Amino acid sequence: PLGSGALADGTLLDSLKCEGVPHVLSVSQFNRDSLEALFRIAQLLEPVAQRRKVCPVLDGAVLGNLFFEPSTRTRLSFGAAFARLGGSICDTTGFTFSSMAKGESLADTARVVAGYFDILVLRHPDTGSVARFAQDIEVPVINGGDGAGEHPTQALLDIYTIEQEFRRLGKSIDGSCIALVGDLRHGRAVQSLFRLLQVFKGVHFKLVAPSALAMPAELIETASAAGHKVTQHSTLDTGLKGADVIYATRIQRERMTTEIMESYPERFRIDKAVIRRVAQKDAVILHPLPRDSDPAANDLATDLDDDPRLAIFRQTDNGIAVRMAVFAVLLGVESQLSSAMRDA
Ligand code: CP
Repeated sequence: PLGSGALADGTLLDSLKCEGVPHVLSVSQFNRDSLEALFRIAQLLEPVAQRRKVCPVLDGAVLGNLFFEPSTRTRLSFGAAFARLGGSICDTTGFTFSSMAKGESLADTARVVAGYFDILVLRHPDTGSVARFAQDIEVPVINGGDGAGEHPTQALLDIYTIEQEFRRLGKSIDGSCIALVGDLRHGRAVQSLFRLLQVFKGVHFKLVAPSALAMPAELIETASAAGHKVTQHSTLDTGLKGADVIYATRIQRERMTTEIMESYPERFRIDKAVIRRVAQKDAVILHPLPRDSDPAANDLATDLDDDPRLAIFRQTDNGIAVRMAVFAVLLGVESQLSSAMRDA
């Protein structure tokens, strides 16, 4: 059901190599075949993610999980995914308790930790920092979010989720209508998703945002040049109509001025009334999370939590299988997965 883009063993790993070392730094490293090859591995690992099977292929390996921006799901799901494959994890969170607080450079930090770990995940507030961190070391690095830049593994798990939901609904991403809603200007997750979805064919992207938070023009031009239809909307009523996927996002307060934030109109709150009024009966509602839990926030409202179309927690669960697949590929153990798997 995942398409015909079969890749020979090792091809996916080779496609992720940058100067001989495999990394996941950007969605631009993936095409449709490599995406689907990765998803097949994630599917194989579903029973491990669901704790019905164990698969200790990473016994003895150690992950360095370095997070210099706040995170719940990315940090913990990378850690849980590594542990479920039998590996161990060392974490560091924030600058305060790292020697960067004493002036150590990111480059020195990279050289040091590359001597300690088999693989590294880095989240850092500066755009481009994760690629620079990976440049001079011989250990695989995964971008866990670099400022306003990219969040490639979020986009991978988002598309994995869309494929899973669409399989149940008998739909395909090719030719589908996908509404991206909210802070499209600063959201790295939504921008990575917009870019990665372009490996499919003939998608209609409905970009729903106030003008101050619109998707950058260069990303829209790239999508149009690739043959996708892109329309921009300033209201939920026009933007969500006919959408097969409604992908809501949080206002990235940490990346904008108070002036822009205060100009964000209330009408961008997606709640039960909006969904009842405009959404398709079989729409899939996603959000990279976190959502703003303030009841007045212009975000995805909690009154939708009982709506079966809301797939946000299936989406977070999928982070484990997809991140296990990323580890298995980068550490070259994908061919051992089937034989190592046994009942929990
Ligand atoms: N989606 C996401 O990146 O969540 P966290 O910030 O909690 O990791």
